[in-house]
Amino acid sequence: MRLVILNDPNEVAEWAARYVKKRIQDFQPGPEKYFVLGLPTGSTPYGMYQKLIEFYRAGKISFKYVKTFNMDEYVNLPRDHPESYHYYMFNNFFKHIDIDPKNAHVLDGNAPDLIQECNKYEKEIADAGGVDLFIGGIGPDGHIAFNEPGSSLLSRTRVKTLAQDTLQANARFFGNDIGKVPKQALTVGVGTVMDAREVMILITGSHKAFALYKAIEEGINHMWTVSAFQQHPQTFIICDEDSTMELRVKTVKYFKALSDVHQKLIEESSSVDQFRTLH
Ligand code: PGA
Repeated sequence: MRLVILNDPNEVAEWAARYVKKRIQDFQPGPEKYFVLGLPTGSTPYGMYQKLIEFYRAGKISFKYVKTFNMDEYVNLPRDHPESYHYYMFNNFFKHIDIDPKNAHVLDGNAPDLIQECNKYEKEIADAGGVDLFIGGIGPDGHIAFNEPGSSLLSRTRVKTLAQDTLQANARFFGNDIGKVPKQALTVGVGTVMDAREVMILITGSHKAFALYKAIEEGINHMWTVSAFQQHPQTFIICDEDSTMELRVKTVKYFKALSDVHQKLIEESSSVDQFRTLH
């Protein structure tokens, strides 16, 4: 695992966007070879999307040969509801870039058969050749996507009932009315994300500090589903200072001392091979 500790959420957004740009550039996607990205929603990745749009407008990156798979979507929320993840992705990212809409996949929480929708999603990911880079955020309870505490660490895409903590955290998006937050969601499983070739998890804010500690300094535990990524061979956690408050000084010092190495991972000139040897 790599823990990249940056000063603030802006630096996290910039680092994450530069990493995505570099991975796509190095991959050299084309009509026969698409780069496959897994994507999150929420407040944490918002700045990364803004930066990626900036890079696209500056001609530094294209999404023409990129396929995306979003992590999750609420059940029974109309697609054009401002809090639906379809709405979020379209308005905050897809409509600003050159991705072909047929390559931008978001689970359909209004599908007539939700189980079939989830199974179809897994198949679409497999048909795309698997995810090259899955980007995720976490909740203060350590969930990744909507894999709430107690989710199987081998879980696949499925219907999930949201935990009280998540309903409370998300009520702010529904006029602070917890009764308006959808109670269920479709979500990729922990196992689905674990299958990605690389995983990059963005964590910011002191309210996520305990979750970051549980994610990396204690054992793998299905009550903190993000901890499963301790067993993934290519995981990056990109975090800000505030979220490191519960970590040991030794942990923080160790990873901060690697900041030059981390910087090389987003430099234009370094090659994929260099990345491989750095891990
Ligand atoms: P946030 O949500 O980025 O809005 O904090 C993350 C999550 O709950 O997975």
